[in-house]
Amino acid sequence: MNFDIEKLDNEQATNKNKLFCISTFGCQMNEEDSEKLSGMLKRIGYERTENKEEASIIIFNTCCVRENAENKVYGNLGRLKKQKEKNPDLIIAICGCMMQQKGKADEMLKRFPYVDIIFGTHNSYKFPEYLNRVKTEGVQVKEIVDKETEIVEGLPIDRKSDTKAFVTIMYGCNNFCTYCIVPYVRGRERSRKPKDIENEIKELVAKGYKEVTLLGQNVNSYGKGLEESITFADLLRRINEIKGLERIRFMTSHPKDLTLDVVYAIRDCDKVCEQIHLPVQSGSNRILKEMNRHYTKEQYLELAKKIRSEIPDVTFTTDLIVGFPGETEEDVNETIELIKEVRFDAAFTYLYSRRNYTPADKMENQIPDDVKHERFNKLVKISNDVIAQGNKEAEGKIYEVLVEGTSKNDESRLTGRTRNARLVNFEGSKELIGQLVNVKIVKANSFSLIGEVIK
Ligand code: SAM
Ligand code: SF4
Ligand code: F3S
Repeated sequence: MNFDIEKLDNEQATNKNKLFCISTFGCQMNEEDSEKLSGMLKRIGYERTENKEEASIIIFNTCCVRENAENKVYGNLGRLKKQKEKNPDLIIAICGCMMQQKGKADEMLKRFPYVDIIFGTHNSYKFPEYLNRVKTEGVQVKEIVDKETEIVEGLPIDRKSDTKAFVTIMYGCNNFCTYCIVPYVRGRERSRKPKDIENEIKELVAKGYKEVTLLGQNVNSYGKGLEESITFADLLRRINEIKGLERIRFMTSHPKDLTLDVVYAIRDCDKVCEQIHLPVQSGSNRILKEMNRHYTKEQYLELAKKIRSEIPDVTFTTDLIVGFPGETEEDVNETIELIKEVRFDAAFTYLYSRRNYTPADKMENQIPDDVKHERFNKLVKISNDVIAQGNKEAEGKIYEVLVEGTSKNDESRLTGRTRNARLVNFEGSKELIGQLVNVKIVKANSFSLIGEVIK
């Protein structure tokens, strides 16, 4: 289905000088959805602000993957009560994954009756329509679509960066890992047509973008259900042909589906970067089975070894869950051994969080919070040591860096990433932003590198 973008253009004049603010929680999927909400709002004349106090529209794009993600939204909405009392014209909207949970939208309306619009992940393209109804009819709008809809193409996107862009290649997830709520709130897998993906990337390149990250909960199962027969490896090879594009990244790869044809495509395609986000979750076979992950520690290690032998400069990043029901000290030790063996470049470690409707929520032997925290601290310390060691090995080497902007901590410095996704800060002229430069690493910090541009 194609979005009717011109329909938005009639409203531009009415919204001149009005501002909106979007707070985004969760993963890159939500980031990309927020870029589309922002794109639609700009198209109808609004401008973006980061300051809620001056905004006419405030949107919370929510996440429910862990309990703390939800708590952040409650806190934020509570604080808006006074602002809405002072300014009744303020429009407050909540959307995203949290709203897709059964009964959640009604619960939110009860708790925060001053919210004006609630919608879910499958109908966010209708936001301008909802906004119009609130403004013209003065009603409260709540619309949650339970089942995934047809993919909507052609939405305007207001991207955060001018250099690199997220491009969603598929929506939803079919895996049902026993701890995870994502399949319940994002629906089943649906792939975008390759032509639509290629056209979007060509448009980005024409605007000067150098890097794309292809997004999906499990990019390796791309293509299923499409009329055209195509795999993820084929898609990588096709995107690699796009002239002017410099770098291709992708996330997330499920270890059970990362086949050798994908490994060979990464090896053969000059634009595909040597970096793989390969969430392992646990190093214990017993826990992996309980998690419904469909691979063993040995298979994961074998895969990582094979990838390293084909792609020598490759770096691996991962996600880890600590405190899954029934986890023992022995299981944690197995995860520690795996971290040391794979030598991850980054590890996102999460405390297991009970999620409604998921099988793991009903499992016995839930782990007490203090034990979870203790194990978490242990895992984080070991991962950090491994990461620092990997960074140390980069010292003295020269890397190609895509300059993304100025460093967050020091505006006088530039920042960017190597092809294998290491973060590098260095001195240089702002004119280099958006360009590829060669940088020699002079010092490794725990989570970043300091470099010097090679003339
Ligand atoms: N589809 C991706 C995958 O399979 O790796 C990413 C899914 S999720 C958005 C990102 C990470 O959140 C997962 O890899 C997992 O480590 C973590 N996660 C998911 N559910 C969780 C839960 N109930 N408690 C703690 N962490 C969770
Ligand atoms: Fe969640 Fe598993 Fe799907 Fe990732 S693959 S989104 S962890 S169910
Ligand atoms: Fe992402 Fe959170 Fe939804 S992790 S898919 S925004 S539940």
